[in-house]
Amino acid sequence: MSSQKLMLEVLKGKVGPRPPIWMMRQAGRHLPEYMEVRDTTPDFVSFCYDSAKAAEVTLQPIRRYGFDASIVFADILLIPDALGQNVAFDKGVGPVLEAITDRAGIDRLSLDGALEHLSPVCETLRLLKAGLPPETTLIGFAGAPWTVATYMVAGRGTPAQTPARIMAYAQETDFAALIDLLTEATADYLIAQAEAGAEVLQLFDTWAGSLSISEFRKWCIVPTRRIVEKVRSVAGDVPIIGFPKGVGIVLPEFIAETGVDGISVDTNMDMVWARDNLSDKAVVQGNLDPVLLVAGGDALERATLDLLDIFRERPFIFNLGHGITPETPIDNVKRVVELVQTWR
Ligand code: CP3
Repeated sequence: MSSQKLMLEVLKGKVGPRPPIWMMRQAGRHLPEYMEVRDTTPDFVSFCYDSAKAAEVTLQPIRRYGFDASIVFADILLIPDALGQNVAFDKGVGPVLEAITDRAGIDRLSLDGALEHLSPVCETLRLLKAGLPPETTLIGFAGAPWTVATYMVAGRGTPAQTPARIMAYAQETDFAALIDLLTEATADYLIAQAEAGAEVLQLFDTWAGSLSISEFRKWCIVPTRRIVEKVRSVAGDVPIIGFPKGVGIVLPEFIAETGVDGISVDTNMDMVWARDNLSDKAVVQGNLDPVLLVAGGDALERATLDLLDIFRERPFIFNLGHGITPETPIDNVKRVVELVQTWR
């Protein structure tokens, strides 16, 4: 493989000597060095906007584990913050926003100045571009409109995303206006990230699986397609990975309709099925169980080797099915990285 960047080669559809590996939420609370920097800025949103600190915590898992890709440290809820809906993270509660329940709440949001508000994230990317090892791919990201809207409408995380689902049914025109605004903001934000040095973009649609199929088409597939089209028309062919979590067999349709280059799959996915039904359409990424990464032992090693074996002949990005949890032992992460990077 001529290029030093394994992840970019694989996203072109090539099968390299081994799959690249990175992990969602690889920066964060499972690392003591993260907690040390994190404690210097108690307010999480301010922490995300502190480019020097954000770049530092992004680099921590690269130094410790040697992942093949680095995801910029930020959060999907910076977009509502930039649109004028203040976001706070309360200890033990999670994200807290002023819930948007009607048209007036949507009309108070504004694209004006949103990109400027998010410019510290682009500055973080520029710092990373200069600070990462040459073989490490730099990933930018955003939340997909549906998932971000679930927090904006409920004003917090909700177990089944019911407030946003109700609004989507009962106030469809208003909800569509919110999704349209998010679609524009997200596309512009991703374009700015690509211009600042992001080599791959990932769209997190964590709560896609809570929608009925017709709602999924409306609120996930259509906005994602529009984002992909707009990003491509401005930023060129920067690879885009979709992560509509929990949608199972609708993934072939999602890939065909949105045009994503990569598809991140969750832990519920049967990876033999994914190989046989998805990997000719998009590069599959996933899907080790984050809980297995906590448990460790033989089961973890077996699952890691199984994944490598299933995708032996196909382009594949080794990842988790969802983010690393804070209780994850560092040695288990190290073991998985070692198994993947010394494979074949
Ligand atoms: O390393 C990385 O993956 C990059 C950074 C990243 C964070 N959040 C940092 C973070 C990414 C990609 C995200 C995405 C994100 N944020 C998602 C989509 C992916 C997923 O995990 O489902 C969602 C739904 C959010 C919203 C969000 N941010 C929640 C629900 C929380 C948890 C609140 C809590 O206190 O547990 C966050 C906070 C957050 N984002 C943390 C980190 C490292 C932990 C906060 C801390 O350090 O105090």
